[in-house]
Amino acid sequence: MTVAQVITVDGPSGAGKGTVSHLLANKLGWRLLDSGALYRVTGQACLIEGVSWADHQAVTDIARHLDVSFSAADTGEILVAYKGRDVSAAIRTEEGGRGASTVAAIPSVREALLARQRDYLQPPGLVADGRDMGTVVFPDAALKFFLTASAAERAERRYKQLIAKGESVSLPRLLDDIEERDARDSSRSVSPLVPAEDAIVIDSTATPIEHVFDLVVQKVTEKGLT
Ligand code: DC
Repeated sequence: MTVAQVITVDGPSGAGKGTVSHLLANKLGWRLLDSGALYRVTGQACLIEGVSWADHQAVTDIARHLDVSFSAADTGEILVAYKGRDVSAAIRTEEGGRGASTVAAIPSVREALLARQRDYLQPPGLVADGRDMGTVVFPDAALKFFLTASAAERAERRYKQLIAKGESVSLPRLLDDIEERDARDSSRSVSPLVPAEDAIVIDSTATPIEHVFDLVVQKVTEKGLT
């Protein structure tokens, strides 16, 4: 029987999880699960269907039947569609992040998305990016990382990304948003944002993301997963 391995990459928004997970999945030739995208699409689907994020039952129904698909653009960028409609840009806005974080705090929504996340696992392996990949979704993962960085550094990185995209944003407002989202993600009753006990914690506040990736690859190699 071929065994599928899992490497989990958890941490707060803007800590470099997405970049590291993407690079690692490509390097290993494994599948990638961007679990945050599932919460983001759930929030966005509510807006499209006219469902309030506060209506827990209706949001749960949306999550349970979420018609979401992922595909790779020629540029390598991952495109995300809800009911065949491209929502890639909409889910990455600050409002998209707020919606994701709000619906992700609803226990029945997390439950509704659990099996779907586990279904991503296929041989030879899966790199799972999120908040509770190592603690709840894949507790038996072969290797677990928890990437973090100070809120100020994460706000600064997000600011540079948005400015590069030509968006006008305020750094203090971004910092407020990040701190508010961290507080909501860390204090919720189910699957709060905490490192798994056996996670390797990497603080990238003063470390460029390429170095973080090198360190991750070193740990993966030491574990014999390459
Ligand atoms: O990783 P991200 O920024 O795309 O995640 C968006 C939101 O989704 C984040 O604020 C918290 C939530 N989330 C979660 O609760 N559990 C996950 N496994 C992934 C994301």
